[in-house]
Amino acid sequence: MRVLSGIQPTGRVHLGNYLGAIRGWVEDQYVNESFFTLVDLHAITVEQEPRELFSATLELFATLIGAGLDPNICTIFAQSQVNEHAALAWLLECTATFGELARMTQFKDKGHGSQNVRAGLFTYPVLMAADILLYKAERVPVGEDQKQHLELTRDIAIRFNRLYGQVFTVPTPAIPKVAARVMDLQNPSKKMSKSSSTTLGLIYISDGADEIKRKISKAVTDTDNKVAYDPIGKPGISNLLEIFAAISGRAPDSIAEDYASYGALKSDLTQLIVATLEPISKRTKDLLDDRGELGRIMAAGSGKAREIAADTLDSAKAAMGFVTATSTFK
Ligand code: TYM
Repeated sequence: MRVLSGIQPTGRVHLGNYLGAIRGWVEDQYVNESFFTLVDLHAITVEQEPRELFSATLELFATLIGAGLDPNICTIFAQSQVNEHAALAWLLECTATFGELARMTQFKDKGHGSQNVRAGLFTYPVLMAADILLYKAERVPVGEDQKQHLELTRDIAIRFNRLYGQVFTVPTPAIPKVAARVMDLQNPSKKMSKSSSTTLGLIYISDGADEIKRKISKAVTDTDNKVAYDPIGKPGISNLLEIFAAISGRAPDSIAEDYASYGALKSDLTQLIVATLEPISKRTKDLLDDRGELGRIMAAGSGKAREIAADTLDSAKAAMGFVTATSTFK
Protein backbone atom coordinates (compact mmCIF):
# COMPACT_ATOMS: atom_id res chain seq x y z
CA MET A 1 0.00 0.00 0.00
CA ARG A 2 1.19 3.54 -0.69
CA VAL A 3 1.28 5.77 2.42
CA LEU A 4 1.83 9.52 2.70
CA SER A 5 1.76 11.86 5.65
CA GLY A 6 3.15 15.25 6.59
CA ILE A 7 4.13 17.48 9.48
CA GLN A 8 4.74 21.22 9.71
CA PRO A 9 8.14 22.59 10.73
CA THR A 10 6.59 25.14 13.06
CA GLY A 11 7.50 25.06 16.73
CA ARG A 12 8.95 21.93 18.31
CA VAL A 13 7.56 18.42 17.89
CA HIS A 14 5.39 17.39 20.85
CA LEU A 15 4.03 14.18 22.32
CA GLY A 16 0.73 14.61 20.43
CA ASN A 17 2.61 14.66 17.09
CA TYR A 18 4.63 11.65 18.17
CA LEU A 19 1.80 9.45 19.51
CA GLY A 20 -0.86 10.63 17.05
CA ALA A 21 1.29 10.38 13.93
CA ILE A 22 5.07 9.83 13.85
CA ARG A 23 5.11 6.62 15.88
CA GLY A 24 2.70 5.00 13.43
CA TRP A 25 4.81 6.21 10.48
CA VAL A 26 7.78 4.30 11.83
CA GLU A 27 5.71 1.10 11.72
CA ASP A 28 4.28 1.96 8.30
CA GLN A 29 7.69 2.26 6.67
CA TYR A 30 8.34 -1.46 7.21
CA VAL A 31 5.09 -2.66 5.67
CA ASN A 32 4.06 0.00 3.17
CA GLU A 33 5.69 2.11 0.47
CA SER A 34 5.88 5.25 2.57
CA PHE A 35 6.39 8.97 1.91
CA PHE A 36 6.71 11.52 4.69
CA THR A 37 6.96 15.21 3.98
CA LEU A 38 8.03 18.22 5.99
CA VAL A 39 5.39 20.64 4.87
CA ASP A 40 7.40 23.84 4.95
CA LEU A 41 5.11 25.54 2.40
CA HIS A 42 2.30 25.09 4.92
CA ALA A 43 4.40 26.75 7.60
CA ILE A 44 4.35 30.12 5.79
CA THR A 45 0.56 30.41 5.98
CA VAL A 46 1.35 32.30 9.19
CA GLU A 47 4.28 34.65 9.75
CA GLN A 48 7.65 32.87 9.86
CA GLU A 49 11.04 34.30 10.68
CA PRO A 50 13.22 32.91 7.81
CA ARG A 51 16.12 31.84 10.04
CA GLU A 52 13.75 30.06 12.42
CA LEU A 53 12.00 28.25 9.58
CA PHE A 54 15.40 27.11 8.29
CA SER A 55 16.54 25.64 11.59
CA ALA A 56 13.09 24.30 12.53
CA THR A 57 13.05 22.38 9.24
CA LEU A 58 16.43 20.77 9.88
CA GLU A 59 15.52 20.04 13.50
CA LEU A 60 12.26 18.41 12.46
CA PHE A 61 14.06 16.34 9.85
CA ALA A 62 16.56 15.16 12.48
CA THR A 63 13.70 14.41 14.90
CA LEU A 64 11.90 12.24 12.35
CA ILE A 65 15.04 10.23 11.75
CA GLY A 66 15.77 10.19 15.50
CA ALA A 67 12.25 8.82 16.08
CA GLY A 68 13.01 5.89 13.81
CA LEU A 69 12.22 6.86 10.20
CA ASP A 70 14.93 5.43 7.99
CA PRO A 71 15.64 7.39 4.76
CA ASN A 72 16.89 4.13 3.21
CA ILE A 73 13.51 2.48 3.76
CA CYS A 74 10.99 5.29 3.30
CA THR A 75 11.10 8.60 1.43
CA ILE A 76 11.40 11.68 3.67
CA PHE A 77 11.46 15.00 1.87
CA ALA A 78 10.83 18.73 2.04
CA GLN A 79 7.62 19.84 0.32
CA SER A 80 9.22 23.06 -0.94
CA GLN A 81 11.90 21.07 -2.80
CA VAL A 82 9.26 19.39 -4.95
CA ASN A 83 7.69 22.19 -7.01
CA GLU A 84 4.89 19.89 -8.17
CA HIS A 85 3.11 20.40 -4.83
CA ALA A 86 2.48 24.09 -5.44
CA ALA A 87 1.69 23.46 -9.11
CA LEU A 88 -0.93 20.79 -8.41
CA ALA A 89 -2.38 22.87 -5.58
CA TRP A 90 -3.18 25.60 -8.12
CA LEU A 91 -4.97 23.16 -10.44
CA LEU A 92 -6.96 21.80 -7.50
CA GLU A 93 -7.76 25.28 -6.16
CA CYS A 94 -9.49 25.86 -9.46
CA THR A 95 -11.75 22.86 -8.79
CA ALA A 96 -12.44 23.47 -5.07
CA THR A 97 -15.06 26.00 -4.00
CA PHE A 98 -14.94 28.95 -1.62
CA GLY A 99 -17.80 27.39 0.38
CA GLU A 100 -15.91 24.13 0.87
CA LEU A 101 -12.85 25.91 2.22
CA ALA A 102 -14.88 28.30 4.39
CA ARG A 103 -16.25 25.27 6.25
CA MET A 104 -12.80 24.11 7.43
CA THR A 105 -12.82 24.38 11.23
CA GLN A 106 -9.04 24.77 11.47
CA PHE A 107 -9.21 27.90 9.32
CA LYS A 108 -12.02 29.28 11.46
CA ASP A 109 -10.01 28.57 14.64
CA LYS A 110 -6.71 29.97 13.38
CA GLY A 111 -8.13 32.82 11.30
CA HIS A 112 -10.48 34.14 14.02
CA GLY A 113 -12.56 35.76 11.26
CA SER A 114 -9.84 38.40 10.70
CA GLN A 115 -9.52 40.13 7.29
CA ASN A 116 -5.74 40.17 7.73
CA VAL A 117 -5.11 36.43 7.71
CA ARG A 118 -3.00 35.29 4.79
CA ALA A 119 -4.87 33.97 1.76
CA GLY A 120 -2.64 30.88 1.95
CA LEU A 121 -4.15 29.98 5.32
CA PHE A 122 -7.53 29.78 3.62
CA THR A 123 -6.37 27.66 0.66
CA TYR A 124 -4.02 25.51 2.78
CA PRO A 125 -6.25 22.39 2.79
CA VAL A 126 -6.00 22.27 -1.01
CA LEU A 127 -2.20 22.23 -0.80
CA MET A 128 -2.58 19.36 1.66
CA ALA A 129 -4.81 17.56 -0.86
CA ALA A 130 -2.09 18.07 -3.49
CA ASP A 131 0.52 16.57 -1.10
CA ILE A 132 -1.53 13.41 -0.83
CA LEU A 133 -2.89 13.07 -4.38
CA LEU A 134 0.48 13.59 -6.09
CA TYR A 135 1.69 10.29 -4.62
CA LYS A 136 -1.60 8.42 -5.20
CA ALA A 137 -1.50 7.57 -1.49
CA GLU A 138 -4.09 5.05 -0.35
CA ARG A 139 -3.50 5.44 3.38
CA VAL A 140 -2.88 8.71 5.23
CA PRO A 141 -1.94 8.25 8.90
CA VAL A 142 -2.93 11.40 10.83
CA GLY A 143 -4.27 12.53 14.20
CA GLU A 144 -7.97 13.23 14.66
CA ASP A 145 -7.58 16.98 13.95
CA GLN A 146 -6.80 16.30 10.26
CA LYS A 147 -9.94 14.27 9.58
CA GLN A 148 -11.87 17.13 7.98
CA HIS A 149 -8.95 17.96 5.68
CA LEU A 150 -8.86 14.32 4.58
CA GLU A 151 -12.58 14.41 3.80
CA LEU A 152 -11.98 17.46 1.62
CA THR A 153 -9.10 15.68 -0.11
CA ARG A 154 -11.38 12.75 -0.90
CA ASP A 155 -14.08 15.10 -2.25
CA ILE A 156 -11.53 16.91 -4.43
CA ALA A 157 -10.16 13.63 -5.84
CA ILE A 158 -13.59 12.17 -6.56
CA ARG A 159 -14.74 15.37 -8.28
CA PHE A 160 -11.57 15.70 -10.35
CA ASN A 161 -11.82 12.09 -11.53
CA ARG A 162 -15.47 12.59 -12.47
CA LEU A 163 -14.81 15.83 -14.38
CA TYR A 164 -11.55 14.98 -16.12
CA GLY A 165 -11.07 11.20 -15.98
CA GLN A 166 -9.42 8.81 -13.56
CA VAL A 167 -6.16 10.40 -12.36
CA PHE A 168 -6.19 10.32 -8.55
CA THR A 169 -6.46 7.58 -5.95
CA VAL A 170 -9.06 8.39 -3.29
CA PRO A 171 -7.17 8.18 0.04
CA THR A 172 -8.37 6.78 3.36
CA PRO A 173 -7.37 8.41 6.66
CA ALA A 174 -5.74 6.10 9.24
CA ILE A 175 -6.41 7.54 12.68
CA PRO A 176 -4.89 5.71 15.68
CA LYS A 177 -7.29 4.05 18.16
CA VAL A 178 -5.64 5.67 21.18
CA ALA A 179 -3.92 9.06 21.42
CA ALA A 180 -5.55 10.32 18.21
CA ARG A 181 -6.12 13.55 20.09
CA VAL A 182 -3.63 14.07 22.93
CA MET A 183 -4.91 16.93 25.06
CA ASP A 184 -3.11 19.89 26.62
CA LEU A 185 -1.90 18.95 30.11
CA GLN A 186 -3.00 22.32 31.51
CA ASN A 187 -6.27 22.55 29.61
CA PRO A 188 -7.55 19.06 28.81
CA SER A 189 -10.48 20.42 26.80
CA LYS A 190 -7.98 21.62 24.13
CA LYS A 191 -5.68 19.47 22.01
CA MET A 192 -1.95 19.60 22.69
CA SER A 193 -0.82 22.07 20.04
CA LYS A 194 2.34 23.85 18.89
CA SER A 195 0.37 27.11 19.00
CA SER A 196 -0.57 26.72 22.69
CA SER A 197 0.12 29.87 24.74
CA THR A 198 1.72 27.94 27.64
CA THR A 199 4.52 25.41 27.27
CA LEU A 200 3.57 23.70 30.55
CA GLY A 201 0.71 21.97 28.76
CA LEU A 202 2.97 20.37 26.13
CA ILE A 203 5.64 17.72 26.37
CA TYR A 204 8.23 18.21 23.65
CA ILE A 205 10.16 15.26 22.26
CA SER A 206 13.30 17.14 23.26
CA ASP A 207 12.24 17.63 26.91
CA GLY A 208 14.62 16.10 29.46
CA ALA A 209 13.59 13.88 32.39
CA ASP A 210 13.25 16.80 34.87
CA GLU A 211 11.09 18.81 32.51
CA ILE A 212 8.82 15.82 31.81
CA LYS A 213 8.50 15.12 35.54
CA ARG A 214 7.59 18.75 36.24
CA LYS A 215 4.99 18.90 33.49
CA ILE A 216 3.30 15.59 34.38
CA SER A 217 3.26 16.40 38.09
CA LYS A 218 1.63 19.78 37.35
CA ALA A 219 -0.86 18.27 34.85
CA VAL A 220 -4.41 19.36 35.69
CA THR A 221 -6.59 16.60 37.16
CA ASP A 222 -9.62 16.86 39.48
CA THR A 223 -10.31 16.67 43.18
CA ASP A 224 -11.85 13.24 43.72
CA ASN A 225 -8.53 11.36 43.47
CA LYS A 226 -10.14 8.24 41.98
CA VAL A 227 -8.28 6.92 38.95
CA ALA A 228 -10.90 6.13 36.28
CA TYR A 229 -11.13 6.45 32.50
CA ASP A 230 -13.96 8.89 31.82
CA PRO A 231 -13.02 11.43 29.11
CA ILE A 232 -16.12 13.58 29.72
CA GLY A 233 -16.25 13.56 33.54
CA LYS A 234 -12.47 13.31 34.17
CA PRO A 235 -10.72 14.78 31.10
CA GLY A 236 -7.34 15.42 32.78
CA ILE A 237 -6.86 11.92 34.23
CA SER A 238 -8.30 10.33 31.08
CA ASN A 239 -5.76 12.17 28.95
CA LEU A 240 -2.93 10.82 31.14
CA LEU A 241 -4.42 7.33 30.89
CA GLU A 242 -4.62 7.64 27.07
CA ILE A 243 -0.96 8.67 26.88
CA PHE A 244 -0.09 5.75 29.16
CA ALA A 245 -2.18 3.41 26.99
CA ALA A 246 -0.61 4.60 23.75
CA ILE A 247 2.91 4.02 25.06
CA SER A 248 2.28 0.74 26.89
CA GLY A 249 -0.12 -0.84 24.39
CA ARG A 250 -2.65 -1.51 27.19
CA ALA A 251 -6.28 -0.36 27.43
CA PRO A 252 -6.87 2.88 29.44
CA ASP A 253 -9.49 1.39 31.80
CA SER A 254 -7.33 -1.61 32.64
CA ILE A 255 -4.44 0.75 33.51
CA ALA A 256 -6.82 2.74 35.74
CA GLU A 257 -7.58 -0.40 37.77
CA ASP A 258 -3.90 -0.69 38.77
CA TYR A 259 -3.75 2.72 40.46
CA ALA A 260 -5.16 3.90 43.77
CA SER A 261 -3.81 7.47 43.57
CA TYR A 262 -3.05 10.16 40.98
CA GLY A 263 0.48 10.49 42.35
CA ALA A 264 1.39 6.86 41.61
CA LEU A 265 -0.11 7.05 38.12
CA LYS A 266 1.78 10.27 37.37
CA SER A 267 5.05 8.84 38.63
CA ASP A 268 4.85 5.68 36.48
CA LEU A 269 3.68 7.66 33.46
CA THR A 270 6.65 10.01 33.84
CA GLN A 271 9.02 7.06 33.73
CA LEU A 272 7.34 5.64 30.64
CA ILE A 273 7.50 8.95 28.76
CA VAL A 274 11.14 9.53 29.70
CA ALA A 275 12.08 6.01 28.57
CA THR A 276 10.32 6.63 25.23
CA LEU A 277 11.61 10.11 24.48
CA GLU A 278 15.17 10.03 25.85
CA PRO A 279 16.66 7.84 23.10
CA ILE A 280 14.87 9.88 20.42
CA SER A 281 16.21 13.20 21.63
CA LYS A 282 19.70 11.77 22.05
CA ARG A 283 19.73 10.52 18.43
CA THR A 284 18.23 13.80 17.23
CA LYS A 285 20.96 15.82 18.96
CA ASP A 286 23.67 13.64 17.43
CA LEU A 287 22.18 14.03 13.94
CA LEU A 288 22.05 17.80 14.33
CA ASP A 289 25.82 17.86 14.74
CA ASP A 290 26.12 17.46 10.96
CA ARG A 291 23.52 19.74 9.37
CA GLY A 292 25.21 19.51 5.97
CA GLU A 293 24.66 15.75 5.90
CA LEU A 294 21.02 16.22 6.94
CA GLY A 295 20.56 18.67 4.08
CA ARG A 296 22.02 16.14 1.63
CA ILE A 297 19.76 13.32 2.86
CA MET A 298 16.77 15.64 2.57
CA ALA A 299 17.65 16.62 -1.00
CA ALA A 300 18.04 12.95 -1.97
CA GLY A 301 14.58 12.18 -0.54
CA SER A 302 13.09 15.14 -2.41
CA GLY A 303 14.66 13.86 -5.64
CA LYS A 304 12.97 10.48 -5.19
CA ALA A 305 9.63 12.11 -4.39
CA ARG A 306 9.87 14.42 -7.43
CA GLU A 307 9.99 11.51 -9.87
CA ILE A 308 6.56 10.29 -8.77
CA ALA A 309 5.10 13.76 -8.29
CA ALA A 310 6.12 14.90 -11.78
CA ASP A 311 4.36 11.95 -13.35
CA THR A 312 1.07 12.57 -11.54
CA LEU A 313 1.17 16.30 -12.23
CA ASP A 314 1.67 15.58 -15.91
CA SER A 315 -1.36 13.25 -15.97
CA ALA A 316 -3.52 15.79 -14.14
CA LYS A 317 -2.52 18.58 -16.55
CA ALA A 318 -3.10 16.42 -19.61
CA ALA A 319 -6.53 15.38 -18.25
CA MET A 320 -7.48 19.05 -17.82
CA GLY A 321 -6.52 19.87 -21.40
CA PHE A 322 -3.12 21.49 -20.97
CA VAL A 323 -0.59 20.88 -23.72
CA THR A 324 2.21 19.14 -21.82
CA ALA A 325 5.72 18.03 -22.73
CA THR A 326 4.41 14.51 -23.21
CA SER A 327 1.23 15.40 -25.18
CA THR A 328 0.68 13.48 -28.39
CA PHE A 329 -0.22 15.55 -31.47
CA LYS A 330 -2.23 14.36 -34.45
P1 TYM B 1 0.66 19.11 12.09
O1 TYM B 1 2.03 19.52 11.69
O2 TYM B 1 -0.17 20.07 12.88
O3 TYM B 1 0.71 17.75 12.90
C1 TYM B 1 1.41 16.60 12.44
C2 TYM B 1 0.65 15.34 12.82
O4 TYM B 1 0.47 15.29 14.25
C3 TYM B 1 -0.91 15.08 14.54
N1 TYM B 1 -1.24 15.79 15.79
C4 TYM B 1 -1.78 15.19 16.87
N2 TYM B 1 -2.14 13.92 17.11
C5 TYM B 1 -2.66 13.65 18.32
N3 TYM B 1 -2.82 14.58 19.31
C6 TYM B 1 -2.46 15.87 19.11
N4 TYM B 1 -2.62 16.77 20.07
C7 TYM B 1 -1.93 16.22 17.84
N5 TYM B 1 -1.46 17.40 17.31
C8 TYM B 1 -1.05 17.11 16.06
C9 TYM B 1 -1.66 15.69 13.37
O5 TYM B 1 -2.96 15.15 13.24
C10 TYM B 1 -0.76 15.29 12.21
O6 TYM B 1 -1.06 13.99 11.78
N6 TYM B 1 -2.00 19.72 7.87
C11 TYM B 1 -1.11 18.85 8.59
C12 TYM B 1 0.17 18.52 7.85
C13 TYM B 1 -0.02 18.00 6.47
C14 TYM B 1 -0.37 16.68 6.10
C15 TYM B 1 -0.33 16.67 4.67
C16 TYM B 1 -0.73 15.55 6.83
C17 TYM B 1 0.21 18.70 5.32
N7 TYM B 1 0.03 17.91 4.25
C18 TYM B 1 -0.65 15.51 3.96
C19 TYM B 1 -1.04 14.38 6.09
C20 TYM B 1 -1.00 14.39 4.68
C21 TYM B 1 -0.70 19.52 9.89
O7 TYM B 1 -0.77 20.71 10.02
O8 TYM B 1 -0.15 18.63 10.80
